[in-house]
Amino acid sequence: MRAYDLILKKRNGMELSSAEIEFMISKYTEGLVADYQMAAFCMAVYFQGMNPRETADLTLAMANSGKKYDLSGISGTIIDKHSTGGVGDTTTLIVAPLVASCGVPVAKMSGRGLGHTGGTIDKLESIPGFTCELEQNAFIDQVNAIKISIISQSEIIAPADRLLYALRDVTATVDSIPLIASSIMSKKIAAGGDGFVLDVKTGSGAFMPKREQAIRLAKTMVSIGREAGKPTVALITDMEQPLGYTIGNALEVREAIQTLAGEGAWDLTELCLRIGAEMLVLAGHSQTDAEAYQLLQEKLKSKAGLFKLRELISSQGGNPNVIDDLSILPQAQYQTFVKSERSGYIKKIDALKIGKLVMQLGAGRQKKDSTIDLSVGIELKQKAGAYIQQDQVLAVVHSNQPLSTEYADVLDCFTFSQSPPRYQPLIWQKITQEDV
Ligand code: URA
Ligand code: CA
Repeated sequence: MRAYDLILKKRNGMELSSAEIEFMISKYTEGLVADYQMAAFCMAVYFQGMNPRETADLTLAMANSGKKYDLSGISGTIIDKHSTGGVGDTTTLIVAPLVASCGVPVAKMSGRGLGHTGGTIDKLESIPGFTCELEQNAFIDQVNAIKISIISQSEIIAPADRLLYALRDVTATVDSIPLIASSIMSKKIAAGGDGFVLDVKTGSGAFMPKREQAIRLAKTMVSIGREAGKPTVALITDMEQPLGYTIGNALEVREAIQTLAGEGAWDLTELCLRIGAEMLVLAGHSQTDAEAYQLLQEKLKSKAGLFKLRELISSQGGNPNVIDDLSILPQAQYQTFVKSERSGYIKKIDALKIGKLVMQLGAGRQKKDSTIDLSVGIELKQKAGAYIQQDQVLAVVHSNQPLSTEYADVLDCFTFSQSPPRYQPLIWQKITQEDV
């Protein structure tokens, strides 16, 4: 087999066999297929696409390119959740303890933030003492003992994807649905889950702003799950405005604690209950979404989820008192209250702009190895749909430098209308294996 022939075959729109796809990926990982050949291959896939079988083969080849976590030592079915990346998306910090409080194991590997979207690991590290670096055995033991652990995704997972992603990034081949879907699912599969709940964001702050694109991506990932024998469902969810009230690492931990105490924003709470319900059903713990949803609501009410978060924090070296004393979290030096210059309905809060601003305040990475400021961020005081009077506070900016141009930039994220804006659903649709 030669890489040249496989590039040609895909360029001409033909279907590749499992063995051919496996050849491209394994030889590339070994350094025996050159970057320029793989770049040409990605461009051929970009234009010719891949059918569901090819996409699943590509995913499995990448998942098999490095270490695969064996979680068979954990009793119970492990359902992982994944979000395609949002702004202020604190769901993992809420859903994971809620689901674990039902007795369903949550063995989660998460990533750090990059660009305008945050990452769960950075957020957790704003809790003093908390560590996300656990050996595989310690990880498994902790899940068996308390039903939950969240660790940082190992570098040895799906090395083919890491190489490929860096290549796609510089060859204009990132935004190809089979390449994105296989990239995401290869890492999930290598991380050892038995099934997956995918939160595919759509809207201005999302990786796939257009809804049709998000649906296509979701269907492709659900189909990969089916081909791989891992039950998978996807929710298409709104990312027009940031989720919840806060954007920024320590601020989002604070919000997660408040949400688990039953005092969360409506949208964040609802999304967590819906994702958690899908996890409980896939895990076989609940028969129906409605039954699972109700159970999770009870866990919110009884604060069982909050108690579970405390256990998670103390098991991974963090200061559990943070649950009752939010001042333990890093605090920014300055708080600037941003006031509305007009009255009217908030029509839109631009998630992408807010995400970028929070990154500029220091909360996010411009590059993979940038250091970040865990204390800074933006706290929204209002969400889309609210009626605002002139001079009412729209947002509070938490920064470690006095604001100069940022004040106007925050105002710029809000658009207003004189009549109530059209209601945007939080969850557009659910995609199951029957839909693909
Ligand atoms: N996220 C990933 O992990 N891979 C992609 O290709 C795009 C987004
Ligand atoms: Ca198991």
